[in-house]
Amino acid sequence: MKTRKKQQQQKAKFAPFLLLLLIFLAVSFMVKNNWLDELLAPVFSFMEAAAGEPTNEQNPNEQDIDAEEPTTPETPAAPDQESEENESQPQEPEEEPELDYLILVNKEIALAEDYVPPNLTIPSVRFSQEGRAEIKHLQAAAAQALEELFAAAEEEDIILYAVSGYRSYALQKSVYNRHVQNSGQAYADRISARPGHSEHQTGLAMDITSKSVGFGLKTKFGETPEGQWVAENAHRFGFIIRYPEGKEDLTGYNYEPWHLRYVGKAAAQTIFEQDLILEEYIREYIDAAR
Ligand code: DAL
Ligand code: ZN
Repeated sequence: MKTRKKQQQQKAKFAPFLLLLLIFLAVSFMVKNNWLDELLAPVFSFMEAAAGEPTNEQNPNEQDIDAEEPTTPETPAAPDQESEENESQPQEPEEEPELDYLILVNKEIALAEDYVPPNLTIPSVRFSQEGRAEIKHLQAAAAQALEELFAAAEEEDIILYAVSGYRSYALQKSVYNRHVQNSGQAYADRISARPGHSEHQTGLAMDITSKSVGFGLKTKFGETPEGQWVAENAHRFGFIIRYPEGKEDLTGYNYEPWHLRYVGKAAAQTIFEQDLILEEYIREYIDAAR
C-alpha cells in the first residue's frame, strides 16, 4: 500500500517534466514547419500598427539590399543607357530617331537635280500669300506636324504664317541666281543655298513668319513673341531652327529664325536640349551608333 502510494507520488513528480517535454516537442515541430509565424502574424501586425510603423508587405530583405546600393553618383548620368537603367525614375517612353527625316543637305552634300520628295502635300495652315502652289508643299509627316504646331501656337494667341516650303531644283536655281545678281555671290552664299544644296528641295523645310515683321523673312522675327514661341516649342512637333544664332560658322548660313526643318520628335528634342545643329546630332547620335 505504501509502495503504491510512493509510486503514484513519483509519477506525479515527473508529470510537469513530461508536460514540458511535450510542449517543447510541439513548438519545435511548429517552428520547423513555419506554423508559428503564421499563427503569430496578426499579433506582430497589430504591434507594428500600434507603434505607427508602416506594415511591410515586401520581402524585408529587399530593403537591406537597396540600402547597400551606391547612392546618387556625383556626376549626373549622361542621357544614354545609364539613365535608362535607373528604374527608380519614371521615364518617358524613348522614341527612336526617324531616319527618313534625317536626310542631310548642306553646302557639301547635295540632292540630285531630279530628286523629288515623296508624299508632297499642302498643309492646312495660313500662308502669308496666295499664289505659287509648289512652295506650299511639304512631305506628309512634316505637313501634319506643321498643322499641329500652328494650332498649338494659336491656342496661345500666337498667329503664324507659312511662307515657303518645297522648292524644286529649278526654282532654287532661280532664287539663288537672283540673290547673286542683287547682292553678289559671297553674300548670296550666306543667305541662300545653291541649287541641289537647299533643304527646301527635301520637302522637310518651311519658312514661317508673322504679321509683327510685316510677313517677311527677317532676323528680327527671332525677337518677336511669335519667333520666341517657335524657338521654345518647335521641337515638341519635330521641328528645329536649322540655322541658329551663334552657329553661323558651323552651318555656313546667317541666322534664320524663320527656317523650320522637320527631323521628327526624338531628334528635335535632343537637338533642342543639347543645343546642337543637325550635322552635330547626326555625327554624335546616328553615325556613332552605326
Ligand atoms: N536659306 C536657305 C539656306 C536655303 O536657301 O535653303
Ligand atoms: Zn528656308
